Amino acid sequence: MNAKNIPQHIAIIMDGNGRWAKKRGLPRAAGHKRGAESLREAVRACNELGVKHLTVYAFSTENWQRPEDEVGFLMGLFLEAINNEVNKLHKNNVRIRFLGRLQQFSKELQEKMRWAMDLTEKNTAGNLNVMVNYGGRAEITDAVNEIVKGIEGSEGGGGRRKEITEEEIENNLYTKGIPDPDLLIRTANEMRISNFLLWQIAYSEIYVTDVLWPDFNKQELIKAIEEYGKRERRFGKTSEQLK
Ligand code: IPE
Ligand code: IPE
Ligand code: MG
Repeated sequence: MNAKNIPQHIAIIMDGNGRWAKKRGLPRAAGHKRGAESLREAVRACNELGVKHLTVYAFSTENWQRPEDEVGFLMGLFLEAINNEVNKLHKNNVRIRFLGRLQQFSKELQEKMRWAMDLTEKNTAGNLNVMVNYGGRAEITDAVNEIVKGIEGSEGGGGRRKEITEEEIENNLYTKGIPDPDLLIRTANEMRISNFLLWQIAYSEIYVTDVLWPDFNKQELIKAIEEYGKRERRFGKTSEQLK
């Protein structure tokens, strides 16, 4: 593969775990378990291919509405994955971040997430961002509230009148400092964003595959990257201007 066509940041909506399980007459939990394995493979593949940032949607602000046993299973799976995987990631010099409204998780899970983030903070080989209790609207709302807090706390208090800039919003998103995704992949063939990275995907190339997340592997990732390599990213300009 041509190295210049490797996206520096890939974001994935990991969808289709339930359908994968249903097809096999298994409980949805079995699909989530296999999905965790696909994630492990995706992280490894990104490392091998030279993708610097991988951002995955693991649990949305809307996913709390699922049956209680499924939510409980997912929480257990997150804990287990942190326990089993973080040391390996650290050895591979990968930095992991959990981004979302973490304060809604159990104390134990929050502590584990914090531990994993602190442990890997200085790592430079690659970045894995796991979006949990994440919603694009929640993120933008949180950013705006941070900015407002800053204004109220500043000299002159709430009386300060100032235009809020795009840069200021960006600097208050959970993803501050992380470049925008070049490529957004959604598995399981849904043609929607489901409240993922609303701000950051403004100019991402979108790739939807009917492959279900538990079946997604390095070969599928390469297919997505190859398709990405064929796209012309114009950012509003004409094709001629890019030549
Ligand atoms: C994605 O798979 C995993 C999460 C949302 C946690 P789903 O569980 O949404 O799988 P489908 O869409 O029901 O097949
Ligand atoms: C999006 O998938 C959230 C995650 C992959 C974590 P959903 O399965 O929740 O999305 P909808 O409900 O089909 O839009
Ligand atoms: Mg789904």
